[in-house]
Amino acid sequence: MVEVTPTTGAPERRSSVTVKDNTSDTSWELPVLEGTLGPRVIDVRKLYTEHGLFTYDPGFTSTGSCESKITFIDGEEGVLLYRGYPIQDLAEHADFMEVSYLLLHGELPTPEQKTKFVRDITYHTMLHEQIHIFYRGFRRDAHPMAVLVGVVGALSAFYHDSTDISDARQRLIASHRLIAKIPTIAAMAYKYSVGQPFTYPRNDLNYVENFLHMTFAVPTEEYKIDPVVARAMDRIFILHADHEQNASTSTVRIAGSSGANPFACIAAGIASLWGPAHGGANEAVLNMLQEIGHKDRIPEFIKRAKDKDDPFRLMGFGHRVYKNYDPRAAVMRKSTHEVLDALDSRNEPLLELAMELERIALEDEYFVERKLYPNVDFYSGIILQAIGFPTSMFTVLFAVARTVGWIAQWNEMIEDPSQRIGRPRQLYTGHPQRDYVPMDRRG
Ligand code: SDX
Repeated sequence: MVEVTPTTGAPERRSSVTVKDNTSDTSWELPVLEGTLGPRVIDVRKLYTEHGLFTYDPGFTSTGSCESKITFIDGEEGVLLYRGYPIQDLAEHADFMEVSYLLLHGELPTPEQKTKFVRDITYHTMLHEQIHIFYRGFRRDAHPMAVLVGVVGALSAFYHDSTDISDARQRLIASHRLIAKIPTIAAMAYKYSVGQPFTYPRNDLNYVENFLHMTFAVPTEEYKIDPVVARAMDRIFILHADHEQNASTSTVRIAGSSGANPFACIAAGIASLWGPAHGGANEAVLNMLQEIGHKDRIPEFIKRAKDKDDPFRLMGFGHRVYKNYDPRAAVMRKSTHEVLDALDSRNEPLLELAMELERIALEDEYFVERKLYPNVDFYSGIILQAIGFPTSMFTVLFAVARTVGWIAQWNEMIEDPSQRIGRPRQLYTGHPQRDYVPMDRRG
């Protein structure tokens, strides 16, 4: 059995742990590294080469995969910081372009920096015209996430002049292209699914207004942008922009660690986000609320969520890191009420059902004991449906917002001098070596 005894090291914020391997009756020290915030980490980089041991942590519940300066989460306290700024302050006072600059470059932009950044993004929102033909290959009823994965993955076929990841300027252009074009690609996926003509981006609209216009405008009449809806969408994008080393961000990092081009890496992130345990949860929450249908049926679904033999889980609840209320859910809840009031949908039955479900779940011992609180996905579906997005577009919107976070993390990884290809090991429990059995001696 391996015992770990913490020891205190030199005052320069370094300490170590002593590991005693009872099998070989030997012990050795492992360095402990300390960041600015959050738990200290045991540096196990030399564990295998010096001691022939792997660590084992399926799902990476206690494993740091990298050093990062972008986002910090304190799950116990329900804290989320982007480059040190609390998410509540950014959602209240900033806009998505300002937050995008912050995530990418590490500081809030000056007025001049913001003006230049917004212009750089605005002038990359159009897609190569050939891509319109690319959409024609999909079935009209294809899930828009399938279209998003396909089209983003194909971007390197159209923009191969910004795929040399060793060139900082090409990395910046590819980053701008992805941030700028993801709303256009998403809006086109929606238009294609409803059989309406694509709407080109407009340079006189801001990022969110442009997205709403490309999604909902039709050639037959002027599309009026509701400022309350636009502000709510901007806030939703801010809340979803980044979130440390979640499944999709880890996917982007490990894809990028092999040197794959940024378009392929973001396509991999979109594929991972699609899962119902991750970004697909907002779509799953709406489907769940519609399946519950009436508050009288809530106990039946709470019972199912607790039943280990039933794969059903209460979608929009629980989180690997947050063991407190997800700070984003609190902002989403507030925005949902604002939008429903503005759209005169205050008696939205799904919102009332969601509020009752939240109330019951937060009083139930099973959820309280496991610290299962509503997460960012719990309310987002209600507000997005009220704005007019079909359920199938919810995760697409999550991907639109998260693209800047993925890109910021991808750039940080590429620029990290200690970066190496990600190649985890395993605990092998299969057959030991054995001889081949000829076909006539089997069975
Ligand atoms: C996102 O990582 C990120 O940061 C993700 C994200 C981001 O911004 O990138 O925040 C976005 O993905 C939010 C999460 C959206 N997913 C859902 O809402 C789907 C429902 N939630 C669960 O699938 C689950 O809570 C996870 C996947 C979110 C977290 O799973 P964990 O950390 O692996 O937790 P677990 O499965 O070990 O659960 C611990 C216990 C288990 O019970 P016991 O075995 O201890 O008896 O809690 C139970 C679980 O069965 N549990 C739930 C539950 N979530 C956990 N039971 C019922 N309903 C749930 N939703």
